[in-house]
Formats: sequence, structure tokens, C-alpha cells
Amino acid sequence: MTIKLSPADEAEFRRILKKVCRRSRMLESARHIQHGSTSVFRHSVSVAYVTFYLARRFGIQTDAHTLVRGALLHDYFLYDWHERDDTHRWHGFIHAERALANAMEDFELNEIEQDMIRKHMFPLNRKPPRCREAWLLCLADKLCSGRETVAGIWERRKVLQRR
Ligand SMILES: [Fe+2]
Ligand SMILES: [Fe+2]
Repeated sequence: MTIKLSPADEAEFRRILKKVCRRSRMLESARHIQHGSTSVFRHSVSVAYVTFYLARRFGIQTDAHTLVRGALLHDYFLYDWHERDDTHRWHGFIHAERALANAMEDFELNEIEQDMIRKHMFPLNRKPPRCREAWLLCLADKLCSGRETVAGIWERRKVLQRR
């Protein structure tokens, strides 16, 4: 399956991405690794892109700005979860709330965006999403995370084979 937005949607996506980056600390997340060798920033952009693509592909009516902004901020926890630090313990369970708190400091988020960020770790976080945007994000996050993790394993194997 080729994941490619139409030129008009691509332009819209870039416009929203630029706006979010300008008004937030999101670029800081480029310093932190998420899965394999993929940074949190890159992961967040990929997830937002796929979320937007899935909405368009399946004809799901939604506000593009809300959908993309909510998805971009879903992992806005702003720390390196690989570092040993008591505040990062239980990262999988707590980072959605941390991301939401950070995002609320930088933006006035609507209810859909809040639900997207808070529920994106379902079913690890047990409360299910309340809106279709959050379900789309949940799916896109798992697709991208799986791909990034597998790519990371392949990269490590290649490095080991070269030794
Ligand atoms: Fe997450
Ligand atoms: Fe994520």
C-alpha cells in the first residue's frame, strides 16, 4: 500500500506542521529517539501523515487541522524515555498524559485533539478513544511504531553482520 497524500492535502499537511513547529517545542523532540533510529519528531510527523492519509483514503469526514495537530502532538512528552530517570518510569503508561499536559501549555486544544493525545496508547491505557480521529491515530501510531521497530532491528543486524 502506497501512503501518499494528494498534492493539495500534502500542502495542507505541511502548512499545519510548520505552524505547530513554530508555536511549540516540538523540534526539541528531534533530539530524542523513539524506536530504532527514528526520532520522536520523525515518528510524530509520520504518524500524523498516516493518520491524515487514512482519513482521506477511507473518506472519513474530519477537520484536517484538528486531525493533524492532534496527531503531531500525540507523543509530545519532551524527554528521552531511554534515559534512566525515575520520572520516566512506566513511560508506556504515563506519557500520553504527559504529552497532553505539555501540549495544553502551548496550545488551546479542542476536545477531539485532547481525546486523540490522551487515548492514543489504547489498549495499553485502558480507556478507549471516544472519537473517530483518536481511533485513526491509534491505528496509525501502531502501524508506524511497528515499521520503525522492525527497521531498527534490520539496521542493527546489518551493523552486526559488517563486524
Ligand atoms: Fe505514544
Ligand atoms: Fe507514537
